[in-house]
Amino acid sequence: MNKDKFLAYVQAEQKVEPKDVMPDDYRKLLVRQISQHAHSEVVGMLPEANWITRAPSLRRKMALMAKIQDEAGHGLYLYAAAETLNNGEVPADRDTTYHDMLSGKAKYSSIFNYPALSWADIGAIGWLVDGAAIMNQVMLMGNSYGPYSRAMVRICKEESFHQRQGYEILMTLCRGTKEQKEMAQDALNRFWWPALMMFGPNDDASPNSQKSMAYRVKRESNDALRQRFVDVTVEQAEFLGLKIPDDKLRWNEETKHYEFGELPWDEFMEVLQGNGPCNKKRLETKRKAQREHAWVKEAAMAYAAKQRLAV
Ligand code: ACO
Repeated sequence: MNKDKFLAYVQAEQKVEPKDVMPDDYRKLLVRQISQHAHSEVVGMLPEANWITRAPSLRRKMALMAKIQDEAGHGLYLYAAAETLNNGEVPADRDTTYHDMLSGKAKYSSIFNYPALSWADIGAIGWLVDGAAIMNQVMLMGNSYGPYSRAMVRICKEESFHQRQGYEILMTLCRGTKEQKEMAQDALNRFWWPALMMFGPNDDASPNSQKSMAYRVKRESNDALRQRFVDVTVEQAEFLGLKIPDDKLRWNEETKHYEFGELPWDEFMEVLQGNGPCNKKRLETKRKAQREHAWVKEAAMAYAAKQRLAV
């Protein structure tokens, strides 16, 4: 396959479809990113699921359950999009990609290795985590691989509902008692830096960015998206009456952007290496579900096989 021709094709904003000829490194880059993205969606259900039984009202419980179900749906679209790239040489079938996550070989977003300790954390996850996810995923709607870009359109619509439900939880707490407002501030204090880390390492330390941008998978850099997230989120925090936990945060009149402090990159590396507060717990929960619910999958497969025989 002529790589220059392929690059010219994607750089002219043409979409690549599953049966098209594509360079191996393009296929691998997509399988890596789409499957990691899918893992993030399904592992991301765990911190929130922990609060379904403790949601403070029926309305909150229903919204939280709907949101968590959406995340399972996002995982499904993304595993299905990854599977369209399976060609034997680059394995991308669901069992392989899922087991790469269970074995710890494949990454998922660092943010889901932090615990949700209070109800305000559910608000902070919606506002900051889903807010950061949208910032990244709006650009991914324009990526060059058809099934991935189309999956992102629906995911982004649902993520924006998630962001609003989180912000509304925090708004209620911030307009409530002194203790409720303190709970909201505490959630912001703990989730601020991990949310900024979701965008990945700085551009000069990001090994995949250059190729990904050339192939039009990533359309904007980690730092550019992180900056845009800070610029919109600071004002949302001010509206809530909350303080961003960063003494270096200040508006730069010349650049028209907020300047912010250095991220705790050592902590980011620790989380990526499996040593974050909840890495082990998250993987063990997923492995346990795989073990204990294997019979459901087997029964469904046996039923499907029987139906096929009956046709
Ligand atoms: N958490 C875990 N791993 C990360 C993170 C993070 N926040 N940021 C970067 N990494 C990993 C990368 O996956 C890469 O690892 P690998 O080479 O072993 O696969 C490594 O760190 C180096 O980073 P980059 O070269 O910058 O990686 P990349 O170009 O893939 O950019 C990014 C990272 C921005 C996360 C990109 O993969 C992406 O846009 N992914 C799709 C969106 C996504 O997965 N979002 C997760 C949250 S979705 C949700 O909230 C449910």
